Amino acid sequence: MSRLEHLFAPIRIRNMELANRAVMPPMGTWLSEDDASVGDRLLAYISRQAQSGAGLIISEVACVHPSGSAGKRHMGAYDDRFIPGLKQFARTIHDAGGKAALQLHHAGRESFFLLQQGQAVGPSALPSLVFRQTPNEMTPELIEEVIEAFGRAAVRAREAGFDAVEVHGAHGYLLTQFLSALSNIRQDRYGGDLEGRATMLIEVLASVRKAVGDDFPVLLRISAEEFIKDGYMVEDLVPILPKIVAAGADVIHASIGTHGSPGGITSAPQEYEAGFNAWRAQKIKEVVDVPVIAVGRFTDPADADACLARGEADMISFGRQQLADPDYLIKARAGRTGDIRQCIACNQGCIERIMFEPGSSVRCAINPETGQERDYPRVKAATPQTVWIVGSGPAGLTAAAEAARLGHRAIILEEADQPGGQIRYAARPPHKEIYGRWIDWLIGQVRDMGVEIKTGTAVTGAMIDEGRPDAVILAAGGTKIVPPLPGLDLPLVCDAWQVLDGRVQAGTDVVVVGGGLIGMETADFLRTKGATVVIIEMLKRSPVAKVTSHGYMLHKRLRDGGCRLMLGAQVERIESDAVVVQVEGETQTLSPVDQVVLAVGMKPRDDLKAHLEAKGIRHFVVGDAAGPRRIIEATEEGARAAWSL
Ligand SMILES: Cc1cc2nc3c(=O)[nH]c(=O)nc-3n(C[C@H](O)[C@H](O)[C@H](O)COP(=O)(O)O)c2cc1C
Repeated sequence: MSRLEHLFAPIRIRNMELANRAVMPPMGTWLSEDDASVGDRLLAYISRQAQSGAGLIISEVACVHPSGSAGKRHMGAYDDRFIPGLKQFARTIHDAGGKAALQLHHAGRESFFLLQQGQAVGPSALPSLVFRQTPNEMTPELIEEVIEAFGRAAVRAREAGFDAVEVHGAHGYLLTQFLSALSNIRQDRYGGDLEGRATMLIEVLASVRKAVGDDFPVLLRISAEEFIKDGYMVEDLVPILPKIVAAGADVIHASIGTHGSPGGITSAPQEYEAGFNAWRAQKIKEVVDVPVIAVGRFTDPADADACLARGEADMISFGRQQLADPDYLIKARAGRTGDIRQCIACNQGCIERIMFEPGSSVRCAINPETGQERDYPRVKAATPQTVWIVGSGPAGLTAAAEAARLGHRAIILEEADQPGGQIRYAARPPHKEIYGRWIDWLIGQVRDMGVEIKTGTAVTGAMIDEGRPDAVILAAGGTKIVPPLPGLDLPLVCDAWQVLDGRVQAGTDVVVVGGGLIGMETADFLRTKGATVVIIEMLKRSPVAKVTSHGYMLHKRLRDGGCRLMLGAQVERIESDAVVVQVEGETQTLSPVDQVVLAVGMKPRDDLKAHLEAKGIRHFVVGDAAGPRRIIEATEEGARAAWSL
């Protein structure tokens, strides 16, 4: 058999024949229309995603009952009026050769918009772990109505041409809320011990099975473990799983986590390895006689193949990897694994964007096509332009890749002696190597596309006048801000970049000035070198939000590692072995200190802009050169500049 023989082996589930064992798991996009119907945006997205060739494509959450809607622009399946759109959705997946499953969902108490209206429901009147507001306890009548609604939505899915449905029993939504002792304290038959609390799930599965008949495949997505204090563990779940499966599940999709699980474990950050959750799938597999899907941080088809070969699971979900590169399977099959754009688990464009940026829809920080399929130009430019790109960080490289893809003549001019921009430094702190691998990959791709990268080249206005490019993309990043502090010239003072690239060795008792991402990550780096670190931040709240996975993990590592974060604190002066700070009107002296690391951030570097404006040369300022921000802003602006050439 060929390489990746386990991943590319077919599998049959009831009457559904899957060409391979790769699954696109459900991922909310918020690309539906305002009335929850399927429209062109969502179809364009799913059409592109389905080209991956994954055997099974599972839709994002589709709401089965209005009492469980998670908000506008979430797919609906609670009314027959949704059937025409659902038909188009399923047909789009079939046209690409895949099989389609609809994920049946009820948000329960985890619906912010229903909580705000006092309309959210849950098994018990206990507050949402995320939104802190309390739902109404479901009446027995509503429970019955919702159970039937799952069945009716499944019938709509079948009528719309879907090949299967997946009951969403995971991640802290209604069915997990029933399962969990943290959200279910009911005294009736839907409460009690774990088996009692599983009654709702069992009745939902039975309702779906009864509604769709024996042949139609029904998947169950479940969190193998809640991954939260006092939540259920896989060991608790395993004994009752055979009974759950007997109620009508043909596949168990073994996910992890609940609302409020620390560190966003459900879409795990880079700290977690590929397949970190597969051992739980295996535990489940040991007690059920239906196929089990493993999920969690799979990016490399070879890892998935190995997991299947070891018998840990029967199928593998690639979630964010699909968003990062919908062609990952095609490339793997063709032996071009080096061309796969591997997900870096930053969560900036996907899960954290749809959760924390109201009104947004899904994107990918490293793939400008995802979520923007209708804007994404696919035809080569009629009049190719010569474009100079100043700078080779994420913005410059993405601009170059997109410009070259569209047939323009792009050339990158980089002042430093190697390309990569800030990522060269950002990749140095713990668990960030993946960023370095990504930028190396991008540099390789850009070069393969024929883009010349001239390093050691500081662009001047005179060079532009002489070279006469049609357009210039300024992606030169930022310059370090040096705060005007007494004592800056003392030998113990250095900056974050000098520490990260090894020009300056870590001290023992270190003060980092600046608690933004650069300061926090540099402190994390110093911690691994044995330093004791105090971080001084002017703001009263940490600029690194703990609600993001990366922020949570970073704060935790620093706290556990004995580092101290002083908020609302300002450095007054640096002395030869001390730092004097002001905290809420009080003066404190930190001593002994043998190293002070400045990390107060960057300011935009767009010094060529005035020249370009004066000469009337077409130009774009993108990424940190327009204002220091995250990778997603850099790549998006770089791509959009190239698209508008
Ligand atoms: C943008 C986004 C939206 C998601 N929405 C859903 C969803 O609608 N239903 C669901 O069961 N899981 C959802 N998930 C979880 C994924 O299906 C998957 O389990 C998770 O991302 C872990 O897989 P990965 O590490 O391969 O990305 C979502 C994840 C992301 C990134």
